[in-house]
Amino acid sequence: MLCLGIETSCDETAAAVVRDGREALSDVVSTQMDIHRRWGGVVPELASRNHVLQVMPVIDEALTRAQVTLAQLDGLAVTSGPGLQGALLVGLQVAKAISMATGLPLVGVNHLEGHLLAIRLTPDAPEPPFLGLCVSGGHTTLYEVQGYGEYTRLGTTRDDAAGEAFDKVARLLGLPYPGGLPIDTLAQTGDPTAIAFPRALKSHEVLDWSFSGLKTAVLVHVQKHGVPTGQALNDLCASFQEAVADALTRKLILGAKKVGARTLVLCGGVAANSRLRALALERGQDSGFEVHLPPKRLCTDNGAMIAVAGFEALRRGVRADLTLMADPTWRLGGTGARG
Ligand code: KG4
Ligand code: ZN
Repeated sequence: MLCLGIETSCDETAAAVVRDGREALSDVVSTQMDIHRRWGGVVPELASRNHVLQVMPVIDEALTRAQVTLAQLDGLAVTSGPGLQGALLVGLQVAKAISMATGLPLVGVNHLEGHLLAIRLTPDAPEPPFLGLCVSGGHTTLYEVQGYGEYTRLGTTRDDAAGEAFDKVARLLGLPYPGGLPIDTLAQTGDPTAIAFPRALKSHEVLDWSFSGLKTAVLVHVQKHGVPTGQALNDLCASFQEAVADALTRKLILGAKKVGARTLVLCGGVAANSRLRALALERGQDSGFEVHLPPKRLCTDNGAMIAVAGFEALRRGVRADLTLMADPTWRLGGTGARG
């Protein structure tokens, strides 16, 4: 079964053709990063306008690279939330138009479900059940993935998302947007023990995180000592990154033990972070878990992950019609009995 996935929820216009929910025949991503960088963050109206310009060329390119025509597809998947309303609408309108013109079955995909299932595109990919830590610019949530379409939220951030913390701290340090990769790069030669930044919500009772205190601690440090340069900047980046990776992996392992999971999966843009990846592997394997990390390219937003989630939904018989709407605050899964 060939499924076309379309993603326009934030600042990447992406489309991909995926076979049987496992193999990406193409995966085209057009990023708007350069457009938003000068504003220090994503400007929703600019995002929508650029999706309008990019969406058709990106879909054409995805079909061309996969060497398939619309007539050879079996299904269409489009991100319908969460995300920016105007940005989501662009992908939705195009997907609905293609569905109407071709008669292809259509399904609306939750962006976070796409992130969680991106791991399916890797060799030796795990099948559910697994525990998925979704860490991106807008979300930091721990999910129990019981099966396709069956998700329970075990814990989440009470304030900033981990990626948001990276982006805000980078801005404070005068580093470019988005801040995750620049901090990761500088941290390579920094000392993670140089500054003792706080870890919030350390209690074993909660699986939630909080990153706003950490962000404030960086601000206070910068107010006191000025914006660091050279080795001091690298040390600050490494210490901040260590605090985030430490907090994320502690709760990941705690959650896995609480629900008796055996397999751990990382996903979302922050899952590209080198220290988080190393610590998740180290702590996960030390505790006897199987740890799966998608390649960095599949951590950030892409159309292939949407096609995977769409394939699984279509297989379950889920169908959307032309009334499908954007749901900017669509929550994935319930909190279940575990709360
Ligand atoms: O999943 P994603 O591409 O978009 C959202 O759905 O938000 O994630 C983007 C986020 C940004 O906050 C970016 O700074 C962060 O992922 N990010 C990283 C790294 N690469 C991207 N954060 C830490 N380390 C990285 N290497
Ligand atoms: Zn994302």
